[in-house]
Amino acid sequence: MKILVASNNAKKLRELQRILDQAGISGVELLPLSEVPSYAEPVEDGRTFADNALIKARAGVANSGLATIADDSGLEVAELNGMPGVLSARWSGGHGDDEANNELLLAQMGDVPEKRRGAAFVSVCALVLPDGREFVEEGRWEGHLLRGPRGLGGFGYDPLFLPDEETTGGRSAAELSPEEKDALSHRGKALSALVPRIADAAAQG
Ligand code: IMP
Repeated sequence: MKILVASNNAKKLRELQRILDQAGISGVELLPLSEVPSYAEPVEDGRTFADNALIKARAGVANSGLATIADDSGLEVAELNGMPGVLSARWSGGHGDDEANNELLLAQMGDVPEKRRGAAFVSVCALVLPDGREFVEEGRWEGHLLRGPRGLGGFGYDPLFLPDEETTGGRSAAELSPEEKDALSHRGKALSALVPRIADAAAQG
């Protein structure tokens, strides 16, 4: 069975392939967007991660005729009522300006005491099948917001995020190796949760 992974990030396809291999799922061929005729990317105007993941997965099915997996992710800060949330990539206005996004978030959280600095990275993965069936799974990575950036690795809000697993060591997500981050991260958890659905779909042809 062929499954389109509707993401421009080749890392996500490789991560899903690793997770399928580890789960012993065979008979699934993951295809990147570059393997199907190109189509206009849909506008991600959903109010939730699930809305946006489904928008992307449905567009993949509509344009390729293949079962499609898509994900959407971001940072949820309880003190900010779950924001930046779906606005994570463009929290400071422009799209994908990590430094400006981090500065704004730090300023907004300036006076917030330690015990109310909880945050979580969230990833929602959607699998949409050509027969119209839709499956959605969420993965969360809990932690705390630091008071300044730490570390040079990762991307996005990683330098501000102290994972719960690191409360004693004190390394931010940007100070973990890529392998350590993969093993803990929201994305891996959401993709793993989707594996049984992928296995069922593959078994049914
Ligand atoms: P996307 O869903 O991968 O496009 O991510 C949306 C935005 O959420 C990114 O631009 C980042 O700001 C933030 N984000 C999602 N996952 C992570 C992560 O693992 N580390 C840091 N920031 C993330």
